[in-house]
Amino acid sequence: MTVLSVCNHKGGTGKTTTTIHVAAALGLSGWRTLVIDLDPQGFLTHTMGTEEPAPEQSVAAFFDADADPGRIRVREAAGFDLIPSSSTLTRRMRDLNKPTDVLWVREALQRLDLEYDLLLFDTAAAVTVYSLNALVASQHVLIPVLPEYQSVVGGEQTYQTTQLVENKLNPRLDTRQFLFTQVDARKRMHKTYREYIQEKYGEAVMDNIIRTSTSLAKSRDDATTIFDHEPSSRGALDYANATDELVGRLQEASKDAGRKADPATTAPNGLPAEADADPEVSQLLNS
Ligand SMILES: Nc1ncnc2c1ncn2[C@@H]1O[C@H](COP(=O)(O)OP(=O)(O)OP(=O)(O)O)[C@@H](O)[C@H]1O
Ligand SMILES: [Mg+2]
Repeated sequence: MTVLSVCNHKGGTGKTTTTIHVAAALGLSGWRTLVIDLDPQGFLTHTMGTEEPAPEQSVAAFFDADADPGRIRVREAAGFDLIPSSSTLTRRMRDLNKPTDVLWVREALQRLDLEYDLLLFDTAAAVTVYSLNALVASQHVLIPVLPEYQSVVGGEQTYQTTQLVENKLNPRLDTRQFLFTQVDARKRMHKTYREYIQEKYGEAVMDNIIRTSTSLAKSRDDATTIFDHEPSSRGALDYANATDELVGRLQEASKDAGRKADPATTAPNGLPAEADADPEVSQLLNS
């Protein structure tokens, strides 16, 4: 199973929109895809028309030693399965302050042996124990970036966090891809920011972009995606093309799979013991 986090520490960069539409596009191509909503605000869960379930039927079960994530009834969304978020994550976060608390999700995935081709995490716009759990369990990171100052800074910080996570916690973290979203080709600054990131991160920048699209901006909560209600719009076209490219990139990376094993099926190594907590990780957890 390929595991990918959609992450940018800055808010409103298209993380949730991208998670939904990549998962939906893959569903249309026959991929068995699971989305886990790790954002305590649960916008993805809400957008997919899913009521907030009891905590033990939500992603909160992953962070509760008395709950069994294997008993979560996954919800059917637009061509993919969904493990919904829970507002209890916000309260629970106060207690999740040990370095080992970044391992809950990876350890649960190792036990569960899920039958999906791809697992996608939607994350919140911050370095929290939840986004770190996603990164620690992933082989790949997709960083949606708006071609604007704060989003580009957030994207670069996210890239640095992924390097820290790879070095300290998850040596199997393999690729990072920047995906530019809400791009307006008429704006010179949009081109300038994209070129800046391309110059600095080269191959990590996806060729496809997601243009600004009113059909994507329309807020819906009826479990449909742009592929259902406006399949010939540019939003649908852009996400279909970007997903194709992403799949190619992930498949290319998996050719080197011998190099790095699947974090969800491999025994964790180098786990930080509580006693010698890494100060950088503690700082991340407390930030
Ligand atoms: N390509 C697009 N064109 C126009 N509007 C878009 C596009 N992509 C996303 N949006 C809109 O931008 C807003 C932010 O998108 P989204 O919620 O996906 O970002 P996010 O990174 O998940 O935000 P948060 O950090 O709050 O979780 C939403 O209102 C969404 O509908
Ligand atoms: Mg979001």
